[in-house]
Amino acid sequence: MSNKTLAILKPDCVRNNLIGKVTAQIQEAGFKINGLKMVHLTVDSANGFYEVHKERPFFNDLIKYMTSGPCVPIALEKENAVEDFRKLIGATDPANAAEGTIRKLYAISIQENIVHGSDSDENAAKEISHFFSRKELLDNNGWN
Ligand code: CMP
Repeated sequence: MSNKTLAILKPDCVRNNLIGKVTAQIQEAGFKINGLKMVHLTVDSANGFYEVHKERPFFNDLIKYMTSGPCVPIALEKENAVEDFRKLIGATDPANAAEGTIRKLYAISIQENIVHGSDSDENAAKEISHFFSRKELLDNNGWN
């Protein structure tokens, strides 16, 4: 079981001035921040990050949204990080997200859903290294 996951506070989160509130909720849930930065994704970088979705009908809109402004990737650590973080953020579609989850509280649509969370340990490792070099991470044991 891995204890790392990648969060991205998406452009709607940044634009709506919610970085502080969402980050506080993540930390209060017991996650430790190993790396954090604000970046404006290029189309190339977003295409690479979301390659698994490239055949989906929403892919072009997703790339447009994720490159529409800065986002905040955060490398997180906690026991059972992937699963616990997905519970904290709630379902992809905020309409289906449980009460109290970050998406239920702040997301406006299935696309503009405030925050990303890795869906597996393998993807967490890949996604963390998409945004962070070893030197940029507090705990860099074997993650790049
Ligand atoms: P996330 O799960 O972080 O990564 C894939 C993203 O694609 C997802 O968040 C949403 O932002 C977006 N997405 C997923 N499903 C849909 C959909 N049916 N329509 C539009 N956007 C979607």
